[in-house]
Amino acid sequence: MRAEAANQSGMPGEIGADALRSALGRFATGVTVITCRSAEGVLVGLTANSFNSVSLDPPLVLWSLSKRARSLEAFRAATHFGVNVLAWDQVEVAQRFSSPVADRFKGIPFHEGEGGVPLLDGCVARFVCVTHHQYEGGDHLIFVGRVHTCSAEDKPALVYYGSRYAMTADHPSGR
Ligand SMILES: Cc1cc2nc3c(=O)[nH]c(=O)nc-3n(C[C@H](O)[C@H](O)[C@H](O)COP(=O)(O)O)c2cc1C
Repeated sequence: MRAEAANQSGMPGEIGADALRSALGRFATGVTVITCRSAEGVLVGLTANSFNSVSLDPPLVLWSLSKRARSLEAFRAATHFGVNVLAWDQVEVAQRFSSPVADRFKGIPFHEGEGGVPLLDGCVARFVCVTHHQYEGGDHLIFVGRVHTCSAEDKPALVYYGSRYAMTADHPSGR
């Protein structure tokens, strides 16, 4: 069924939050855990699907963080952040890093990259970035990072689509 609900708020020029969320949810994304180390040395990480590429030369990526996130101050102050692109078999990791558990890293295998950023085992890709710019973005803060190191593995990635987890598969057309 086609959801044609561009303006549910009744306010001229304003879009209803549910309609916006529903339409944005039709943009399939990968799932990442973005990490840093706070000024006090505490490990910080959250599930984020706002990650995207910006530029190859220079190598830049971005993601956005809700201004209501508990981790806001840690990422604002951090010189580095890590991007862990989750594999199809890491749904529990995605759920853990988006839940209000006390220590999200407990029982999660990881090692430290440059700047002390936690890099999780078993991911399809990892990036260590130096925070390059921070931009205001409405109720989010946009972080642009310059990639210092990256690595990739050949396994199916975790996907987020329509508020549900899915996984990558080849298209039946073979293209
Ligand atoms: C699939 C998925 C993607 C998410 N993407 C983002 C995101 O890009 N930015 C964000 O701020 N929160 C995002 N969230 C929500 C955070 O993971 C969640 O609010 C988390 O508890 C924030 O952690 P914190 O409050 O400890 O910083 C996402 C959640 C899920 C399940």
